Amino acid sequence: MIFLCPAADVPPGGCRRHSRGRHGALALFNLDGRFYATDDRCSHGNASLSEGDVDEGVVYCPLHAGGFDIATGEPVHPPCDEPIRSYPLHVQDGGLYMLPDPEA
Ligand code: FES
Repeated sequence: MIFLCPAADVPPGGCRRHSRGRHGALALFNLDGRFYATDDRCSHGNASLSEGDVDEGVVYCPLHAGGFDIATGEPVHPPCDEPIRSYPLHVQDGGLYMLPDPEA
C-alpha cells in the first residue's frame, strides 16, 4: 500500500490536497472517520476539489459549484456530468494508505 499522510492531517469534514507528481493530485476526505481519496481535478474544468466545500458526503467544486459523491465519485449536482475516480483509504498505525492505482 502507498502511504499518503497522517490521518490526523485530514480532520473530520475536512479535505487536504495530496500531490502525486506526474500523476496529478488527489483530494483526501474524512467523512466522519471514513477516509477517501478522489481526483483533485474537477471533471468539468480546471478546478481543485480540495478547495471546495464538503456537505453530507458531497464535495462542491469551488468554480461552478458542481457536486460529486465523495464515496463513489459520481456527479450529483450540475453542471458536472462526468464522474471522478474515488478510492477508499485504509488507516493503519495512524497513517492513510491507498492501494496502488492501476490507472496511474
Ligand atoms: S470546474 Fe468544477 S463545476 Fe465547473
